[in-house]
Amino acid sequence: MSTRASSASPHWLRVGVVSAVAAVVLFGGWQLRGASSGPGLRGGLSQDSIGPAGPPGEPATAFPAPMRPVADIVAPRWTREDVRDEAGEFEQVAGLAKIRPGMAVADIGAGDGYYVARLVPLVGRQGMVFGQDIIPDYLGLLADRARRERWPNVRVVLGEPHDPRLPPGGVDVALMIHMYHEIEQPYALLWNLATAMRPGGRLVILDLERPTAQHGTPPGLLRCELKAVGYRERSFTRTAFDEYVAIFEAPGIATRPSPAAVSAAVSANPCRAPRE
Ligand SMILES: C[S@@+](CC[C@H](N)C(=O)[O-])C[C@H]1O[C@@H](n2cnc3c(N)ncnc32)[C@H](O)[C@@H]1O
Repeated sequence: MSTRASSASPHWLRVGVVSAVAAVVLFGGWQLRGASSGPGLRGGLSQDSIGPAGPPGEPATAFPAPMRPVADIVAPRWTREDVRDEAGEFEQVAGLAKIRPGMAVADIGAGDGYYVARLVPLVGRQGMVFGQDIIPDYLGLLADRARRERWPNVRVVLGEPHDPRLPPGGVDVALMIHMYHEIEQPYALLWNLATAMRPGGRLVILDLERPTAQHGTPPGLLRCELKAVGYRERSFTRTAFDEYVAIFEAPGIATRPSPAAVSAAVSANPCRAPRE
């Protein structure tokens, strides 16, 4: 078990402050999604520059639906960036994920780009960052930021709820930060994500140990859903009192279970939320 980098304030105080600010940002964010043209699209990259980066994968209908509530999408960010920096969030996740210069990293559910902004200098010009999401307005904010900051190595990618639409075999590390509980088709998304991973590629999931309806994912439920698609757990680290980072190795495209085999595995061993 590990904890976030220490700072002058006590751990319980930092966690309380992060959670309180996150609640305000997360639950105040509905307006952004509801807007027909987000502020990020004005003067930013054109809508044309925001699109899929890979061909369509398998359809959602080929996979079972999850047997647990799916959280609503309410905001393009977990909480304020200065609060996250104070907690040392990015450094800790990047360290656990072993992200190095030259890697291709996909931030699935990137929102307005807290991780993308920090990945850009870490992977460097020889590397690549895919800032991916399914909400065009959120990607508009990210594209604006990319243009303003003149990031040389970022591609803003529009995916679908069941398909990240990333380039086949193009990703070393995929991040899912505070978003797994919002995925409405987890089996399809994980299966299609495997197409985008390089051999040995890793999926890094940060979430809260809470019911999915409360913007978290119980670890047992997470493991069950990933195992059904052939992902192998490599590490599990508790990073705050109810927060964890779980790292999985993606299955190779030749060895992953077929969609029919995923359905059979889920029927035989249903992945259900624990009773509360
Ligand atoms: C709470 S925000 C977190 C944003 C960012 N990762 C962060 O940590 O600040 C969740 C994000 O996940 C995105 N999202 C939800 N379902 C998704 C899916 N199936 N594929 C990609 N992104 C998704 C939402 O649009 C939203 O931007």
